[in-house]
Amino acid sequence: MTRLQRVRTTDSIRAQLASWRAEKQSVALVPTMGNLHAGHLALAELAAAKADRVVVSVFVNPTQFGAQEDIGSYPRTLDADEGLLRQQGCADLLYVPAEKDVYPRGLTDLVMVSMPALATDLCGRSRPGHFNGVASVVLRLLNIVQPEVLVVGQKDYQQMVLLGWMIEDLHVPVELVAGPIVRDTDGLALSSRNQYLTSEERLIAPQLHATLLEFAAQLNGATDAFENYRPAALERLAGYGFKVDYLELRAAGDLAPLTVADGPSIVLVAAWLGRARLLDNILI
Ligand code: PAJ
Repeated sequence: MTRLQRVRTTDSIRAQLASWRAEKQSVALVPTMGNLHAGHLALAELAAAKADRVVVSVFVNPTQFGAQEDIGSYPRTLDADEGLLRQQGCADLLYVPAEKDVYPRGLTDLVMVSMPALATDLCGRSRPGHFNGVASVVLRLLNIVQPEVLVVGQKDYQQMVLLGWMIEDLHVPVELVAGPIVRDTDGLALSSRNQYLTSEERLIAPQLHATLLEFAAQLNGATDAFENYRPAALERLAGYGFKVDYLELRAAGDLAPLTVADGPSIVLVAAWLGRARLLDNILI
């Protein structure tokens, strides 16, 4: 049980951070959109291992949602989130800014970060502008909190790579640390969006990871092109009722397209199951 405090305004978080800085304590930031689960909590634990103080932010960021997307229905469970963090005991501060705290000039004529070409690939293909929105909110949160460490999850691998590039290219003085994917016992990667699944779909959902595991095993050490293996995996996923957005083999470092898995590689998948868009990836 902790010390966890909930703060909303920029002034109150600045005051708390100033007192930590006066004591020479380092700070790690874990940005989230709330509806916390064990994946988020693992990042808070990682953050606590990397810095003296841990700030978890909860902000459902409007600039990363498309007009047709789920911002209205995105699960908001702040009291439960606070309870989980308090029980876990790794976070010191739960930062829950209002829209005007994050976007002081409003949302219609605002400064946005423009991300490089990778932002329009993979998830960016079906979510135009998404990663510009992610970068624009994360940079604002970094500027408000000014942490030494930024902690993100490998579940959103493309987001992780792009945020690393933003930090490098904009000289943001922060160390990026990434935590592994936390899964349910049946292999499904934990996600706030899993609750859009019906109980029948939830039983099918682990097949995404199972298929990806088999696909990755086939590609590992194969000398012929990954495209030769892809149709069978796509067919298997379609058979379970997934609508696949993409299933790709990429270089693990910069997500450049690969034909064979030589060197550090990653297979990434995004697929719809009912109302839920599920993501997963496996490093080879
Ligand atoms: P959100 O989806 O809430 O995720 C917050 C962080 O938790 C991200 O870094 C994400 O990669 C990580 N995460 C989610 N599920 C995980 C799992 N099963 N295992 C490990 N890590 C997991 O990603 C966002 O929010 C937003 O785009 C954000 C970065 C907060 C900007 O708005």
